[in-house]
Amino acid sequence: MTEDSLPSIDPQEFRKAVTTRRSVRQFTSEPIPEDVLQDCLDLALMAPNSSNLQMWNFYRVTTPEKREALIKACMSQKAAKTAAELIVCTGHTRNWRQHAKDILARWPGEPPKVVRQYYGGLAQFMYGSVPMDMLGLGARAKKTVRDAIGLVRPMMRTPNTDADMELWAAKSVALACENLMLALRAYGFDSCPMEGFDEPRVREICGYGRHEFTVMVIAAGRRHPKGIYHEQMRFDRKRFVHEV
Ligand SMILES: Cc1cc2nc3c(=O)[nH]c(=O)nc-3n(C[C@H](O)[C@H](O)[C@H](O)COP(=O)(O)O)c2cc1C
Repeated sequence: MTEDSLPSIDPQEFRKAVTTRRSVRQFTSEPIPEDVLQDCLDLALMAPNSSNLQMWNFYRVTTPEKREALIKACMSQKAAKTAAELIVCTGHTRNWRQHAKDILARWPGEPPKVVRQYYGGLAQFMYGSVPMDMLGLGARAKKTVRDAIGLVRPMMRTPNTDADMELWAAKSVALACENLMLALRAYGFDSCPMEGFDEPRVREICGYGRHEFTVMVIAAGRRHPKGIYHEQMRFDRKRFVHEV
């Protein structure tokens, strides 16, 4: 889309979606229409993400047994118990290599050299795991190489360790989660992001492997009149917004 063909957006409409979103702890029994939920998930997938490697997954838990188990794994929080939908949002730390290949394969026509070099070369170094060992020597070696290069020119210093890769994935997954929650709000529905859960249990319910991890579980549905527990509170912006 060129600048001329971009649709104009009413900032007040966007503001409404952002400012009326709250973490809702109780939902009514009204279901979210299927087309609405699917559109919200599609909008989640439009979130910016690191190198477009799309290292996320969204598990919509629908079977009654799994749902029951998930509610328990979410510490039986009211938001989970009353939600019309429960969506487990995960990050994957190893599927990036396949996704890099897929980006090159799906490129319209021959990918430009710079794109081939990035996904075929630089990304492999950036995100490539080094042989992991008990002492983390591989990751340390990689960090040492980066720090050495960093002495002479700007250099991205991470990710090196598995924990770095989880952080790397979680950043992009969280952006998709926010897209999902704002999309729900734009459709008149609400959500509650949850990290209050038993991770191994959530993992078992959804059936993902060890290179995937749970970023958050999103409860969603129609806001119950008693679903908001208190006024929204934020500290003064001066605490957070800095000019340097
Ligand atoms: C990563 C993350 C995890 C959260 N986990 C929970 C949770 O387990 N249970 C819950 O009731 N709220 C949870 N929240 C919601 C926060 O408590 C809430 O966003 C915060 O209090 C601000 O309120 P607001 O979202 O209504 O503005 C979580 C929010 C985030 C972003």
